[in-house]
Amino acid sequence: MKVLAINGSHRTGRSTSKLLQMALDDFAAQGWDTELIELADKHIEYCIGCNSCLRDKPCPLLSREGDQMQEVLDAIMESDAVIVGNPNYFENVTARMKTFIDRTCPQSHMEINPLAGRVAGIVCTTGLSNCGIDVTAAVLQRFCNACGWITGYSWTVATCESGVDENGEVTYRRSADLDPQAQASLHNLTGSMMNLAQKLH
Ligand SMILES: Cc1cc2nc3c(=O)[nH]c(=O)nc-3n(C[C@H](O)[C@H](O)[C@H](O)COP(=O)(O)O)c2cc1C
Repeated sequence: MKVLAINGSHRTGRSTSKLLQMALDDFAAQGWDTELIELADKHIEYCIGCNSCLRDKPCPLLSREGDQMQEVLDAIMESDAVIVGNPNYFENVTARMKTFIDRTCPQSHMEINPLAGRVAGIVCTTGLSNCGIDVTAAVLQRFCNACGWITGYSWTVATCESGVDENGEVTYRRSADLDPQAQASLHNLTGSMMNLAQKLH
């Protein structure tokens, strides 16, 4: 069994990436193969809305020189489970993640959807806890639904905000991956994904 994590942060190896790696470690401990794709390391062209895919023609961007979307699609196809990770950017996903989402269109919205049937989970990071992270997570949840992926416990949210000091000022931890509640919730997420995957196979 294989699990793929896809990080939409512009910052490789930072808080979203670290949480995704923690999630992958849980899977690896149970004998799963794991892979982390940092979208920031991939060149993915914008969907140009040509609708070739709606006419059952191949996406012309997949064969465009330098475009690496096919590599990500191949990695999804090889996986039994997918975790999508993204920071909260203005109550939404990053432009990088949205570009990736749009480029799954030839697969995820068609009558024959080769991406469907995978177990999925969502990991989100944010500065503040009350500043739109639920919307970011919901966008990713809807993307998973559109792909035909099955989510159980569904998402983990990690915050930089750590509380309020004696002066009523918000306090912060160095990065969201250090959020202890999120780390605990992450193990619930990975456990639930592995249970679901086992039941489906
Ligand atoms: C352009 C931009 C927009 C952001 N928007 C929000 C926001 O609306 N609310 C919030 O709480 N944090 C926001 N943040 C903070 C990030 O969500 C947070 O720092 C996140 O943990 C970064 O993840 P990373 O370390 O994986 O890049 C924003 C950060 C940037 C750079």
